[in-house]
Amino acid sequence: MELDAKARKKIIEALNRDLEHEMAGIIRYLHHSFLVFGTGRVPLVQILREQVQDSMNHATMLGEKITALGGYPTATVHEEFRPTSKSIEEILRESLRHEKEALAGYEDQIDLAGKNLALREMFKHIILEEQTHIEELEKLLRTV
Ligand SMILES: [Fe+2]
Ligand SMILES: [Fe+2]
Repeated sequence: MELDAKARKKIIEALNRDLEHEMAGIIRYLHHSFLVFGTGRVPLVQILREQVQDSMNHATMLGEKITALGGYPTATVHEEFRPTSKSIEEILRESLRHEKEALAGYEDQIDLAGKNLALREMFKHIILEEQTHIEELEKLLRTV
């Protein structure tokens, strides 16, 4: 179902916030993937690079939807990235925090889709993937 002008404006703003979050995720995961050292490096780099791809897919879906709705996709990323030396556990904990924030955002926004089922499905698809990312990170951090 088509969204009215007011609903459309609101959803474009929300999608742009999501887009910024996903683009920050691409940068963060890629940056972190350069900073993994030690014998366990290979599988972790692979996991982080898969997250880059998933964030990129989400960003692409969001950007395409924004333009489909007549909006203009943001290219702004407010998050700041500095070269730091972090432990693998810190990287995973930081990732988990960001994934949880992203999931909460999408869960909050799903109702903005109203009766627009395609939009709702897009949110559901992303929500399922974010939940999977969270579960995977929790398993990586689990010690027993
Ligand atoms: Fe995402
Ligand atoms: Fe994610």
